[in-house]
Amino acid sequence: LRPIHRLLSRPGTVAADARREQQSAGSTETGSEDRTPKKRFSEVQKERREQAQRTILILCPNKISEKKFLKYLSQHGPINNHFFFESFGLYAVVEFCQKESVASLQNLTRTPSMGTEAAIPFRSRFFNLKLKNSSDQTSEQSCIPCNQSPPSSKKLFELLCDAESIDDQLNTLLKEFQLTEENTKLRYLTCSLIEDIAAAYFPDCAVRPFGSSVNSFGKLGCDLDMFLDLDEIGNFNAHKTSGNFLMEFQVKNVPSERIATQKILSVIGECLDNFGPGCVGVQKILNARCPLVRFSHQASGFQCDLTTNNRIALKSSELLYIYGALDSRVRAMVFSIRCWARAHSLTSSIPGAWITNFSLTMMVIFFLQRRSPPILPTLDYLKTLADAEDKCIIEGHNCTFICDLNRIKPSKNTETLEILLKEFFEFFGNFAFNKNSINIRQGREQNKPEPSPLHIQNPFETSLNISKNVSQSQLQKFVDLARESAWILHQEDKDHPSPSSNQPWGLAALLLPSVAKSMSRDKKKRKKPASERIKNLLESIKSSPENPTNTNGKR
Ligand code: CTP
Ligand code: MG
Repeated sequence: LRPIHRLLSRPGTVAADARREQQSAGSTETGSEDRTPKKRFSEVQKERREQAQRTILILCPNKISEKKFLKYLSQHGPINNHFFFESFGLYAVVEFCQKESVASLQNLTRTPSMGTEAAIPFRSRFFNLKLKNSSDQTSEQSCIPCNQSPPSSKKLFELLCDAESIDDQLNTLLKEFQLTEENTKLRYLTCSLIEDIAAAYFPDCAVRPFGSSVNSFGKLGCDLDMFLDLDEIGNFNAHKTSGNFLMEFQVKNVPSERIATQKILSVIGECLDNFGPGCVGVQKILNARCPLVRFSHQASGFQCDLTTNNRIALKSSELLYIYGALDSRVRAMVFSIRCWARAHSLTSSIPGAWITNFSLTMMVIFFLQRRSPPILPTLDYLKTLADAEDKCIIEGHNCTFICDLNRIKPSKNTETLEILLKEFFEFFGNFAFNKNSINIRQGREQNKPEPSPLHIQNPFETSLNISKNVSQSQLQKFVDLARESAWILHQEDKDHPSPSSNQPWGLAALLLPSVAKSMSRDKKKRKKPASERIKNLLESIKSSPENPTNTNGKR
């Protein structure tokens, strides 16, 4: 059998090594968890937000001397951190040590005079740097922009084929696709820049990122979900009242919360469209179940979705962050399943009857809760560990769970990623989707409360199905592909293909645009087995004595 190399032995690039060190979510070695204390989600959010508030974005000339650039900016105060990246031009992200430096720079910055056009004089933290004399910079060593995109398919296949084991492949894929430190900084900065615009209306508002940008499951290139948090404004007043009187603001009343949300998003959308530097393609989608403003932030290249008062979604991001940090196998599995689903067009960037990445993540978490011993605890168990300060009720929904992830015991399960991947496909290839609902709160399947083809209970708004949009045919496609993928992995086990051969193997074979293609490379010519046939074949492999199913991690 192929040796299971637990450590990535391929020498990495300096940049990749640095990035690896910077990743906060722990080691990626199966079975050897990083024991350094992990930060609470709320601490990470607070730190990142504060960091973003003293950070600026600059469109630079294409040729620029890094040294002169830094010297020029340092006249406003010491710089903590900076990096360059390429989008439609060369950009720099500069983090000052103090917030005051930003104001100092703004004071020395002019609004451009535009000739025939006119400029909206909005003083943001997004600048345009021009050279007074371009010739004196070209001779200097210029800056090296860092990468903000995932690897190409070709590069990915090469990396996967060079890996030493399926475990190594999953960890490689994770390292290549996870958000880099720079990309994460850029996400928080973008929210902070939008917050400045929203603050024109609501001075004490916060614009907070949520979803895959913060839950540790974000892939390079994923959208940026953010919400306008106006709760702080209300809370501020509540704490300040004392004595016999209660002071309230005179406000405009509207018939419902939804209408209030629509009105707020409508003006913020207008504001972004009219005054937001770099905000393009602003669409107000106010009649959706959850009204939103969608736009592109041209400089960062992020597709942004702005909603309001989405505290439950932020809590669900926190829950996923905890699950992602508890065991290094979780993120490796989720990234691979997300890539697998994308490669086979099970997911799409266009909304529709497709499975979403969020649903896939829930499915992986549920599967890991079902292992023996479980790799992840149930949400109900995380609730029992909560103490008084963790208590959290949002809009009548109990969102309480332990926030200090260092107090959650690590799993005793030692299964390899290879086994988990294979078992994942078998588990969902045989799951009774017609009668059961996936429930991470209880970590057990439940009877479906309604007839949607795929039912995944929203962990906090328990009457909601997060995959209500998924059609029967899309679910069937998922099941068929899961079975075929399980089949490929079983076949490989039998045939012992050599990782050194030029053929895609393991995860690389599963990611080929059509699974059928990789099956045809099999020398024995056989017609593509139908889903049911694969299922039966898998069953027979599992029950035959010379092929005991590996569920205990021993090979
Ligand atoms: N969400 C939810 N219920 C849904 C869809 C989304 O609660 N039916 C919440 C989740 O917290 C999710 C967030 O909204 O993480 C953002 O949704 P989406 O962008 O669809 O998912 P992401 O997790 O951000 O994944 P992706 O990388 O595909 O953007
Ligand atoms: Mg998202």
